[in-house]
Amino acid sequence: MSLFRTPLLKKLPTLIALAILTITIGCGKQSSGIVLRMAHTLNTSHPVHAAMEHMAEQLKESSSGQMELKIYPGSQLGSERETIELLQLGAIDLVKTSTSPLEGFIPGMGVFGIPYVFRSEKHFWNVLDGDIGKQLMELGMDKKLRGLCYYDAGSRSFYTKGKPIQSPADLKGLKIRVQNSQTSIRMIEAMGGSATPIAFGELYTALDQGVVDGAENNPPSLLTSRHYEVCKYYSLDEHTMVPDIVLIGTETWDRLTEEQREWLQAAADSSVTFQRNLWQQKTQETMDKLKEGGVEIIHPDKQPFRDAVKELHDSFKGTEAGKWMEAVLKQE
Ligand code: GCU
Repeated sequence: MSLFRTPLLKKLPTLIALAILTITIGCGKQSSGIVLRMAHTLNTSHPVHAAMEHMAEQLKESSSGQMELKIYPGSQLGSERETIELLQLGAIDLVKTSTSPLEGFIPGMGVFGIPYVFRSEKHFWNVLDGDIGKQLMELGMDKKLRGLCYYDAGSRSFYTKGKPIQSPADLKGLKIRVQNSQTSIRMIEAMGGSATPIAFGELYTALDQGVVDGAENNPPSLLTSRHYEVCKYYSLDEHTMVPDIVLIGTETWDRLTEEQREWLQAAADSSVTFQRNLWQQKTQETMDKLKEGGVEIIHPDKQPFRDAVKELHDSFKGTEAGKWMEAVLKQE
């Protein structure tokens, strides 16, 4: 596992988190029920955090207080990659992550990072709610990662500091922050920009200090991370639809009884319905708040962006992500 392969100093925050969690586990044992610890990177004002809170409430209610979900938001326990590693080690029980950094563990998940692979929202949900979505969730079992549910994370688009992105040509010479994902790096390069992977929790400072010229994300993440304070141009090219996913460590899952698993899965399923509604409700409100915050919203012609990634699509042929891309393209 990479925790043991990377220099110790670099992993210090993860190791400190592990130590804190060991103390937490100790406390957890004194309570009569089961306390599951869940980590994610988003702020508590984000609609995806609200979904996890809903899941926690449902779990507590259906288990009559026998099971609890303790949520550690805002990258408290590290980046998404680090928390996935903590999950594999059994140091935490659940993680909510974007599927992008997950492709480093489960290559098939890279399919979501391929730009313009989905034709519409309907196509996207047919994939996630159908066999492909289910099969992808099961791919991580031998890596100790079990998928519980997907959350809506809308479409990702560019936001920049100095100038708006009207076409891929505007990305030339710009450093764009990407998630920890090879597919994202290749996408930016195909469009003519220069990709810099940075953890979400470190991005505000990186933008502010000019380490990067821009980034890309969905509207609620741009708003709740306050990156819009620094980046005043938001270009809705909607290059990818990368879902969020809730993962449980297989060690934790194996420890639960059949009844406890049912409570947890039902709470996760209920949070999915809750989150999809909330996301729809928040869409207009989010855009209004961004405009009030001084953000100029640009609606560029998407065709030049699609054209720029045609060769990238072809280059996935024969790869694991490419195999899933073929299946996605065939889906109604
Ligand atoms: C989205 C996603 C997060 C992720 C973030 C990122 O906001 O919901 O899970 O951390 O993108 O760009 O890193």
